[in-house]
Formats: sequence, structure tokens, C-alpha cells
Amino acid sequence: MNRVIAFAVLSFMALAVARAAGDHQSWPFEAPFGSFDATTLQQGLVVYQADCAECHGLRLIRYRDLRGIGLSHSEIVALTSKIKRMVGKKEMAVTPDDRMRALDSHGSSVAAPDLSLTVAARRGGPEALYSLLTGYREAPPDAAIIPGYYYNVAYPGGQIAMAPALKKGSVTFADGVKPDVGEMAHDVTVFLAWSADPTLNERKLVGLTAMIYLVVFWLVGLIALRPGRGR
Ligand code: HEC
Repeated sequence: MNRVIAFAVLSFMALAVARAAGDHQSWPFEAPFGSFDATTLQQGLVVYQADCAECHGLRLIRYRDLRGIGLSHSEIVALTSKIKRMVGKKEMAVTPDDRMRALDSHGSSVAAPDLSLTVAARRGGPEALYSLLTGYREAPPDAAIIPGYYYNVAYPGGQIAMAPALKKGSVTFADGVKPDVGEMAHDVTVFLAWSADPTLNERKLVGLTAMIYLVVFWLVGLIALRPGRGR
């Protein structure tokens, strides 16, 4: 028994050390019964609109899908009118005009990819996107950086044609908080994990309900069939 307790304590400590060592974020929605938190998703949307939407689209998400993260009809209308797009059915995609404007204004020759599935498609999932967004550093003197590229320790090859998009103070959340770059990266990553899997919450709820249902019937079965009954 003591050994079991010692093993449990040591495993827990090892896990804590591993977490502390690597600036790992917590992604509760990845747990078997975890779900997306609406406040985090809405904050992620604020960051996305302010700092990513100019260049990147989410063509698999329609504006009306934002009801799934708790936005009301009028909030969606406010969002779409600000960027002069139709309400509802329209995808959150970047139009060819937007794309040209973004390329011109940043003097870039590389078009920004659609981000609808980026968290699902990326090896390493949300942690990898978070690392990319927070991976910009001063380039070491011996690094050969291609003009128009930026040094980023998390991107394969160490440089990416995307300027650091997150700047402290560029957004204010609904509760008045001005998030730092780490918080913005975290929340926009959660939002983009949602865009890749918008029905996760409902799916896990159905799973959980089914499990409870099965457990209840298992117990009923146990009681009904316990030895000695009916004699
Ligand atoms: C100024 C335009 C611009 C903005 C703003 C911008 N990006 Fe990018 N992004 C790009 C370009 C261009 C690339 C392609 C880079 C390359 O291929 O080297 C890119 C690439 C990416 C990739 C990598 C795709 C891949 O796997 O190669 C991700 C993920 C990404 N951006 C996320 C974001 C997020 C999240 C935001 C907002 C916080 C954002 N970007 C803001 C222009 C932008």
C-alpha cells in the first residue's frame, strides 16, 4: 500500500516538474470530458478579429456559427457590419480583395493560409500554435533571414513570412482586462481549436449522458439480479 502511495506521489511530482519546465498551457477541452469555455472562446474571437482576420480567413465557419460560442444575434450583426459583410450565412473567409489588400499593405508575397482547421491539422495541436504565436525572438547574428521573413523558434526552418501578430494592448476583453501576448495567444488558440471542431461540447455532453445512463442501468441490473432474490 505504501508503495502505491509513494508511486502516486512521485508520478504527480514528475508531472508537475515536467509542466513547470516547458511553459505548457492547459487545454481543458482535450480531456475526455473537457469542454470549451465560452468566455475564453469569446476572448479568442476578439483577438482573432483584431489581429488575424485581416490576413487569414475561416472559410469553414459561418458568422451564424458564432452563436455556438455564446454570441447573440445582435452581437453577430454588430460584428459583421463592422467589417461590412452580410449577416448569418456568410463564411468568415477572406475575399480575394481582402487578400490583395493584406498582401499590398504588408509588402508580402506570401498569402496567409485559411485557419479553419489549423489546430487539427498541425502536429502538436493547440500547443504547437501557441508556441508559434509566442515563438518570435531576436534573430541570432549568424541567422540568414530571408527578406520579409521573421525569426521564430517554433516554426520549421526557424523563419516565417508572418510578422509577429500579437501586440500587448491591441485588444481589451469584455471584463476590461488588457491581456498580454501569452494570454492572447492562449485564447486565440482555443478559438481556433473550436473552429476546427465546433461540435466538441455537444459531442462530449452526449458521451457523458450515455455513460451516466449506462452506469445507472448497470446498477439497476446489479440490484435486480443480485443473488438470493426471488427465492
Ligand atoms: C499581416 C498578415 C497576417 C496576420 C495579421 C496574421 N498572419 Fe498568420 N500568416 C501570414 C502569412 C503570410 C503566413 C504564411 C507564412 C509562411 O508561409 O511562411 C501566415 C502563417 C500562419 C500560420 C502557419 C500556417 C502553416 O502551417 O504554415 C498560422 C498558424 C498563422 N499564420 C496564424 C495566425 C494567427 C493566429 C494570427 C492572429 C493572431 C495571424 N496568423 C495573423 C500572415 C498573417
